[in-house]
Amino acid sequence: MQQTQSNIYTPYTLPCGIRLKNRLAKAAMEENMAGIDMQPDHALFSLYRYWAHGGLGMIITGNVMVDDRAITGPGTVVIPLVGNLDRFKRWSSVIKSGGAKAIMQLNHPGRQMPKSISCTALAPSAIPLKLGRYSKRFARPVAMTCEQIHDVTHRFAQAAKRAKEAGFDGVEIHAAHGYLLSQFLSPLSNQRQDEWGGSLKNRARLLLNVVCQVRAQCGNNFIVMVKLNSGDFQRGGLSPDEASVVVELLDKLNVDLLELSGGNYESPAMQGRGEKEAELGKNAYFLSFAKAISSRVAMPVMTTGGITSKKTAEKAISDGCAVVGMASALAFTPDLVNKWQQKDDYLGVNPTCDWKDATLASVVVMAKVRRQLRRLGNDLTTMRNPTNFWSLLLDTLHRHKMISLYKKYLHKQNHHVAKPVRSVKRYVSSHVVSDVPSRDL
Ligand SMILES: Cc1cc2nc3c(=O)[nH]c(=O)nc-3n(C[C@H](O)[C@H](O)[C@H](O)COP(=O)(O)O)c2cc1C
Repeated sequence: MQQTQSNIYTPYTLPCGIRLKNRLAKAAMEENMAGIDMQPDHALFSLYRYWAHGGLGMIITGNVMVDDRAITGPGTVVIPLVGNLDRFKRWSSVIKSGGAKAIMQLNHPGRQMPKSISCTALAPSAIPLKLGRYSKRFARPVAMTCEQIHDVTHRFAQAAKRAKEAGFDGVEIHAAHGYLLSQFLSPLSNQRQDEWGGSLKNRARLLLNVVCQVRAQCGNNFIVMVKLNSGDFQRGGLSPDEASVVVELLDKLNVDLLELSGGNYESPAMQGRGEKEAELGKNAYFLSFAKAISSRVAMPVMTTGGITSKKTAEKAISDGCAVVGMASALAFTPDLVNKWQQKDDYLGVNPTCDWKDATLASVVVMAKVRRQLRRLGNDLTTMRNPTNFWSLLLDTLHRHKMISLYKKYLHKQNHHVAKPVRSVKRYVSSHVVSDVPSRDL
């Protein structure tokens, strides 16, 4: 098919008036590659330069934290609410250098925070993650006070304002994948009895407040996106019917683009797996929900998950999506969109792991992707078939190195660190990681 005949290359104007040059977006991928002060530096600039010149219409950063004591993983970027933004300005200009719009994804982990981070995990209710023998790797959360809930809302709004100051075209509020805003939506993790829990309207209150305050801080000529689960794909979690109601509530709030995904750490539907795997689409996991919902709301819809071929991307657009998101495939082939212009049937990589332990297999898939991100950040070529074992090992070593850097950062900021590093970890980070060359393998 010629480029001119394909629906994925047509420009699209979002409700705020900003025009995307085409319908293809790089979805958020946490890179775990921030510098020692949790800000973007040379590795992230190199990585994003590949995507900037890869033909995409929109590039969403990996999740950026709104609070430096609440991070999804070591090495994530944190946006400072005061002070210098020079490195963020440089980041946005790299992202925009090929004509794509730059979106910063904002997030708070809530209870999905590794215990090794050693900070107190806040959540709607004091309900820990249920991940079998891996549960103890996550901090036991503390139920948030109303004051803490208001503080988080304020942080999202201020962070969005700072993203705008730093030259980003918009922000995406992460309310999917079991992080804090998604925890508030889910009846499994939110068992509060006050105005933040119980009815769906109460459970959605935090998300809706965040969206309103972000818009109020950033004005109309700025892209405000939300990433939402089309369902948790988990018994007792947010159902597709409830998700539809949340979408209708968001539709009244001037949201520019709604990205639909699904799942969380307990049920990784975003990887096409989990408790209710049979309900997911084969090549575009959430497309049937996106198709149904896009015909009912005015807000443009984007779907992400499992898309690796031009044909599937075209189907998503003809099914009513305004934008198609891709993550893993763009880690392996950052110029996938350019490749599709030359070769219609070029197939992107969808990494898998056939290990029986579902949780570990999911960690391995993430490790394989992050390995490609680090390689690009070091200006190395990506690997099409990385092995499970080496990817996991290298990722573990990298994470230990990043944890120790994060603890140094916390000490510098005078933040309380809950527990000392376990001795074996201290050994690994001081003896093994320092021997790993900084150019990732
Ligand atoms: C290494 C890795 C990191 C991710 N980090 C984020 C993130 O920071 N924010 C987010 O919304 N989704 C994140 N995701 C999920 C992706 O955005 C996407 O929803 C999911 O991978 C499915 O899309 P895909 O099949 O194209 O990879 C991440 C996925 C991977 C593999």
